[in-house]
Amino acid sequence: MDEEYDVIVLGTGLKECILSGLLSVDGLKVLHMDRNDYYGGECASLNLVQLWKRFRGDDKPPAHLGSSRDYNVDMVPKFMMANGTLVRVLIHTDVTKYLYFKAVDGSFVYNKGKVHKVPATDMEALKSPLMGLFEKRRARKFFIYVQDYNETDPKTHEGMDLRRVTTRDLIAKYGLDDNTVDFIGHALALHRDDRYLEEPALETVKRMKLYAESLARFQGGSPYIYPLYGLGELPQAFARLSAVYGGTYMLNKPECKVEFNDEGKVIGVTSEGETARCTKVVCDPSYLPNKVRKVGKVARAIAIMSHPIPNTNDSHSVQVILPQKQLGRRSDIGRD
Ligand SMILES: *[C@@H]1O[C@H](CO)[C@@H](O)[C@H](O)[C@H]1NC(C)=O
Ligand SMILES: *[C@@H]1O[C@H](CO)[C@@H](O)[C@H](O)[C@H]1NC(C)=O
Repeated sequence: MDEEYDVIVLGTGLKECILSGLLSVDGLKVLHMDRNDYYGGECASLNLVQLWKRFRGDDKPPAHLGSSRDYNVDMVPKFMMANGTLVRVLIHTDVTKYLYFKAVDGSFVYNKGKVHKVPATDMEALKSPLMGLFEKRRARKFFIYVQDYNETDPKTHEGMDLRRVTTRDLIAKYGLDDNTVDFIGHALALHRDDRYLEEPALETVKRMKLYAESLARFQGGSPYIYPLYGLGELPQAFARLSAVYGGTYMLNKPECKVEFNDEGKVIGVTSEGETARCTKVVCDPSYLPNKVRKVGKVARAIAIMSHPIPNTNDSHSVQVILPQKQLGRRSDIGRD
C-alpha cells in the first residue's frame, strides 16, 4: 500500500461515505476502508437471514415471514426530509441516479393516548382533531406567521428578532396550549426533547418551514422520503460516486489503526502490516477507541408487523412520533 492520500476515511456509515464522495468530487485523493465486508457500518440494511444472524445466533427466521430477500431492515432507521440538506446533496452530486426513492405515506403523532395525523399547514390545523375550535384558530395564525416568515425580509418578522426571542416566548405570543406546543415542537420541528423551548425560536421556525416545504414537494401524506431498498443503499451510492472520481474503496480490512507522530498529528493508517500515509483521517468513533467518550444511548426495537398501525389510514409506511411528555419520559420515541 505505502501510498500517500489526501484523506483516509474509516468506516462506511452514511456520513463517512457522503464525505468521501464529496471530497473525491472535489479532486482530493481519498482512500476509504472498512473492517466489515459490507457497506453501512452501524447503519446497514439487513435481510431476514442477516437480521437473524445478528440478533438470534444460529436460529433461522420462521418460514411464514416469507423470502429473506423481500426485507431490508435498517439498523438505524431514519427518514429523509424531501426538501432537506441530504436530498439537496443527493441531487447536486447526481447520486440520485443510483437510487430509487419512495414517499412515506403518513406522518403521525401520539397525543393523549391516540395516534393523529400531524397537521402541517394553516388549512390542516383548522381540520385537525388534535385541537379545540379556539385553539385551531390560534394555531392557524401561528402557522401563517411561520409560513410567511422570511429571514431576510424584516417586514415578515412582526417586530421580533427570532435570533433572540425564545421559542417559549414566541409561542406565548400566540397563546398556544401545551398540547399544541408539544406536537409542534416534536412532530413538526422534530426536536427530541424540550430544550428548544428556551432556545432562540429561529431554529424551530426554520424546521417547521422545512417540514411544510418538504410536504408540499411530493403532494404525499408526509414530508419524508426513503430509499426503496433501505438506508443501506445511501452509503453505497456515495461510494460509487467516490469511485467514479478516483476514490479507492477497500472493505474487509481488519484492524485499521490510525498512526500518530510524536506531536500527536495523524500520519497514516495501518492495516494488515501496511501503512497508507495521509495528513487527515475521518472515521466513525469505533476506529478511535481511546479518543472517544460515550455521552448517551439510543434504545431501538425492531417489530415485524402483519398489519398497518391502527388510526393511520392503513398507510403502508408511516412515522409516528411519541413525544416525551405524552409518555412521561425525557426524550422522544419515534416509530418508523
Ligand atoms: C425573502 O425576502 C427577500 C428580501 O426581501 C426576497 O428577495 C426573497 O425573494 C424572499 N424569499 C421568499 C421565499 O419569499
Ligand atoms: C387515506 O388514504 C387515501 C388513499 O390512500 C387518501 O385518498 C385519503 O386522503 C387518506 N385520508 C386521510 C385522512 O389522510
